[in-house]
Amino acid sequence: MNYQWYPGHMTKAKRMMQENIKLIDLIIELVDARAPLSSRNPDIDELGKNKSRLILLNKSDLADDRQNRVWEEYFRGRGAFTACLDARKRNDIKQIFQIIQEACREKTERDRKRGILNRPVRAMVAGIPNVGKSTFINSFAGRTCAKTGNKPGVTKGKQWIRLNKQVELLDTPGILWPKFEDQQVGLKLAVIGSIREELLVEEELCLWLLEYLQKSYPGAVEKRYQTREDGKPSEVLERIAQVRGCVQKGGGPDFERAASMVTDDFRSGRLGRITLEIPVAEESGE
Ligand code: G4P
Repeated sequence: MNYQWYPGHMTKAKRMMQENIKLIDLIIELVDARAPLSSRNPDIDELGKNKSRLILLNKSDLADDRQNRVWEEYFRGRGAFTACLDARKRNDIKQIFQIIQEACREKTERDRKRGILNRPVRAMVAGIPNVGKSTFINSFAGRTCAKTGNKPGVTKGKQWIRLNKQVELLDTPGILWPKFEDQQVGLKLAVIGSIREELLVEEELCLWLLEYLQKSYPGAVEKRYQTREDGKPSEVLERIAQVRGCVQKGGGPDFERAASMVTDDFRSGRLGRITLEIPVAEESGE
């Protein structure tokens, strides 16, 4: 699902998050493993400062495995529990239960000291649009899921999905708005498909991607399109258009069609497993 972000939209989303956060113990934050910083809104750190935190690098099947490990370390180093995930796979989901228990151990201990036993951990899934929240909730809840319905003290209309004796999940995810701090963030979000491309020209996105691939994943373009990948990104795109028969009526290269094919190939993993940002680069830019 794509959203456009108007101030009114963001205020509403933020208000919803603030309300829902009061009800939960744990925030399960999904980020896109291909751009883990650009696809998260750091405001969540402030919003959820007294809650347990689990950051899941979703779509890790599309991201560079080596960088996935680096990003896990990065978030762990900042005090969050973390794991890589393909939200479509129920097998991947199983390991998450264990991490949730670990992430909430302190809370469970506190409860026990107060004489509260067996109160399930309440969690909420949050993330920017298209990061995989609904997919995750569906896989996570699976066929055993049962809605526990409204309970006293819970705002009317909130539904909790009981995952097992230990965990309940709010059935509506928290939608975070992307934070366009700089143009690079916007470009990366558009390339991974989390914001509407109409905001940016498809060809521009593709040229940015081709340049990034030349620098960070040499060989990926040659392997996919069987064409040389050196030179200006616009020249590379022209060659791709030629080999793939993207030709306009007049005979010239159809850059737009070629560009949309390349970004599509990237999004579906046909260009290989690629990560668009690494922690070191982000830190040096701070
Ligand atoms: P949202 O609720 O956060 O907005 O995201 P949603 O679950 O709708 O997921 C968005 C798209 O991402 C879906 O593709 C979904 O299948 C895909 N997706 C979710 N998790 C993963 C993952 O771990 N790996 C991969 N490869 N894909 C994942 P879709 O329905 O085909 O939509 P679209 O791709 O056409 O936008």
